[in-house]
Amino acid sequence: MVDRLTADLHAAAARLATARRVVVYSGAGVSKESGISTFRDPGDGLWAKYDPMQLATAEAYARDPAFVWSWYMDRFGQIEEAEPNPGHRALTRLELLMPLTVVTQNIDGLHQRAGSTDVIELHGSALRFKCVGGRHAGFSMADLAGSDEAPPRCPRCDELIRPDVVWFGEALPTAELERALEVAANCDALIAVGTSGVVYPAALVPATAHQYGASLIDVNPEPDAFASAADWFLQGPGGDVLPRLVAEVRRLREA
Ligand code: APR
Repeated sequence: MVDRLTADLHAAAARLATARRVVVYSGAGVSKESGISTFRDPGDGLWAKYDPMQLATAEAYARDPAFVWSWYMDRFGQIEEAEPNPGHRALTRLELLMPLTVVTQNIDGLHQRAGSTDVIELHGSALRFKCVGGRHAGFSMADLAGSDEAPPRCPRCDELIRPDVVWFGEALPTAELERALEVAANCDALIAVGTSGVVYPAALVPATAHQYGASLIDVNPEPDAFASAADWFLQGPGGDVLPRLVAEVRRLREA
């Protein structure tokens, strides 16, 4: 007797094996097995411990830049120490089998470190910095290393520097959102992994793929906002399910 997950995983793999173009829509859960906290997991999610309005808004930064900066420096340290996990790595193998774009809400750069070559960062990156006015961007931590202020100041205009991430109440980067919606409208299968699916406008990406007829595969240990609409809800951690899914797609492609 084959268990439900295995049966659904085989069916999802059969769909992927005939796909011309695939989009992966990822959230914090795909990096949890790399030791990076999610936001809304009961108990250990960041927003279960911290008030996002005190840490992830432009107003909070204006009110107390040193406090917010030190929190991001802690996260920067965790990201630097983290390694991509088997979930990230499985997606780089899937990319070898068909055109694939990763649309991520994550700011940790772990998809790129795993080797994914086409990654759209909808919420920016904790590894890049810009000045609060936004006129000068693309600074790395190394570019700012000379400053002994925390937060440092822009080397070009002396304004405060901030992480190049999208805070609550801020717009997503236009070019990234437009391209994400374009690839979603043109894919024939979308894999949602490690996201609660409750944050908009990012969640328009899987909704658009679904609206244009793409098959929806959802990978999560817990049912999320996409689970009921998904063609296949593969219940389990990304680090377990994704390697199994990709191995099955490859087996079918080589058969
Ligand atoms: N593998 C896959 N999914 C997992 C794992 C795992 N090992 N562990 C937990 N999850 C799932 C949880 O069940 C949850 O549904 O990951 C999801 C994480 O959800 P959130 O914490 O809400 O993270 P995310 O969806 O990425 O949040 C979206 O909200 O706070 C903002 O800007 C922030 O980009 C973030 C956005």
